[in-house]
Amino acid sequence: MTTTFDKPASTLTLEEATAEHADLQARIAEADTHYHQEDAPTVDDAVYDSWRRRLKQLEKRFPDLRRADDASERVGAAPAAGFAKVRHARPMLSLDNAFEDADVVDFLDRIRRFLGLGAEAELTVLAEPKIDGLSASLRYEHGRLVQAATRGDGEEGEDITANVLTIADVPKVLPADGGWPEVLEVRGEVYMTKADFLGLNQAQQAAMDAGDRRAKIFANPRNAAAGSLRQLDASITARRKLHFFGYALGEVSSPIAVTQGGIRERLAAWGFTLNEPARTCRSADELIAYWRGIGEGRAAMPFDIDGVVYKVDRLDWQERLGFVSRSPRWATAHKFPAEQATTQLLGIDIQVGRTGALTPVARLQPVNVGGVMVANATLHNEDEIQRKDVRIGDTVVIQRAGDVIPQVVSVVLDRRPHEAESYTFPATCPVCGSHAVREGDEVVRRCTGGLICAAQAKERLKHFVSRNAFDIEGLGEENIETLFEGAFVRSPADIFRLKHRFEDLKPVKGFTDQKGQHKKLTKLFDAIEARRTIALDRFLFALGIRHIGETTARLVAGRYETLEQLRDRLKAAAADREGEAWAELNAIDGIGATVAEALVDFFGEPHNIDVVDDLASEVAVAPYTRPKTVESPVTGKTVVFTGTLEKMSRAEAKARAETLGAKVAGSVSAKTDYVIAGADAGSKLKKATELGVAVLTEDAWLTLIGG
Ligand code: IVH
Repeated sequence: MTTTFDKPASTLTLEEATAEHADLQARIAEADTHYHQEDAPTVDDAVYDSWRRRLKQLEKRFPDLRRADDASERVGAAPAAGFAKVRHARPMLSLDNAFEDADVVDFLDRIRRFLGLGAEAELTVLAEPKIDGLSASLRYEHGRLVQAATRGDGEEGEDITANVLTIADVPKVLPADGGWPEVLEVRGEVYMTKADFLGLNQAQQAAMDAGDRRAKIFANPRNAAAGSLRQLDASITARRKLHFFGYALGEVSSPIAVTQGGIRERLAAWGFTLNEPARTCRSADELIAYWRGIGEGRAAMPFDIDGVVYKVDRLDWQERLGFVSRSPRWATAHKFPAEQATTQLLGIDIQVGRTGALTPVARLQPVNVGGVMVANATLHNEDEIQRKDVRIGDTVVIQRAGDVIPQVVSVVLDRRPHEAESYTFPATCPVCGSHAVREGDEVVRRCTGGLICAAQAKERLKHFVSRNAFDIEGLGEENIETLFEGAFVRSPADIFRLKHRFEDLKPVKGFTDQKGQHKKLTKLFDAIEARRTIALDRFLFALGIRHIGETTARLVAGRYETLEQLRDRLKAAAADREGEAWAELNAIDGIGATVAEALVDFFGEPHNIDVVDDLASEVAVAPYTRPKTVESPVTGKTVVFTGTLEKMSRAEAKARAETLGAKVAGSVSAKTDYVIAGADAGSKLKKATELGVAVLTEDAWLTLIGG
């Protein structure tokens, strides 16, 4: 059955269309709520589709009816060509952790000291559950959701607006009389409930059994939420039942509250769901009692939490406390211990990684660990299996902590079947049959097959296209498998030559489209073309050399600046480990012997040089450019604080000076640029005067640094 509408859309007046549009939107929104939140559809799919079609017709005729919150944009939005990058107006920080009761006491003490609060002054802290999901920043302008972004590296995330629009409990428009600021960024967590996670994995398993190679089992609700949110096709996100809790602010054009509790009240009034139960506490004892209470109810909660978060309630104090590296001083996460369960070990599989490492994975009788079913767990390495004497058939203790892969903790010895035999770790690679060896005192056994090992070659390619490397959208793990197996891609450069294989690829599984339009292939080719220019540090990271992570890649790229230099100097270092090039490599700040060895091992192999040269013939490698640092009048200056400061504690003064790029020293010397003297300054002030170092009052210093 489909609904028929009174008049064709083409004959409606604007008033009629507006009324009908509003009515349809309400009906669709209600149906969506039932579908997403209660998993109980209230309308027939065909009726629902007819509403959507009609909505689209109305909007085609009267485009002004179309708004960001329209149901027509909420699901089934056209797949984007990759995620655009979004620079956060204010960085998205992470949290410091507390594990012990003493850490909580320290947290409060540090805050009191920093703010210079006496023992009698009241310090109110808001406590709320810490959800294990993915943080997102939602930007509202004039009360309308205009952009949503992932956290990314904290400075820059990905534009996931289309996806977030499909989340039922994210308000798309704030209430008309809400008194919200013109610009409002709400930060919070996107998550999946445990029940939806289990349901999703069941559906994924069924799809895999039916031969769908793209379907995969998610390790935990957090991964499932991440996989569902970062979908180029937002209609997939829409089907995945995600939720959102709001718990903090990003940029706001005017203050909305004076306390954290006040922020919660405003967010609730604007329609956001909050992390409950929250509590306002006034001492470490109260915080710890709250933490204990939440911990006891944790397994019964509908979503995964991995601790609780404490936040200083007063926002002016939050402002003064600021942050250290990537975490605020005014907040901390009090973590829960990992959750455990026992089950039977059915078998041990060996996985071969990018660098040939053999990792044993336990196949388990599926077991519920804190509300989540676990069927696989890591056994780490050969020595761990031996140390724990893990045998197939044993009953084992499994542990799951937040985002980490579940692990086998120990064996329940008195339940060991008498026929269980000790496990012998394979001495050959299960994929290519090459010897698997342990070098020096390494715990890891590695396949020596190098690139002849299909497992290593595939893992390297997966790394090569991954997000922080070449970041090729649409080349997921499954597609790499297919392209490798079909001999379309065997080395990185082959990816850039794929477009010449258009005809051969058309019928290949994973690349065919309904109606034979080959949109997937053209989109993939576009995504590949978009990455034909790459920065040197990413290029180096993408090669997947052992021990070369992103940070190390940046250090090395910073030293050699161009690919030619890097390649030639490292080749030279490999040829002569006593020569100048070797010394030059070892002199790079932050690079130790292991990294230097790994680099020359790689660049000393002619077949690796061939891979690099082949790739360089396909892509343009941009020379390394140094990131800019913030400039302030005190950047690079050495300052010394002395005497009693009136406006802030010593710790706060020091932190601010460092944030602005100054170096804070403990004693005065000829190298000191400024001495900031508070009340009752003594010997340091005297020394400064003797040495002719500039002396500033606290006020003069504040004027210099701009407040
Ligand atoms: S406040 C300035 N509150 O935990 C820090 N974070 O491990 C703002 N998280 O990046 C974060 N629940 O993604 C805050 N109730 C909560 C949270 C929470 C989960 C996440 C958040 C953060 C991560 C740090």
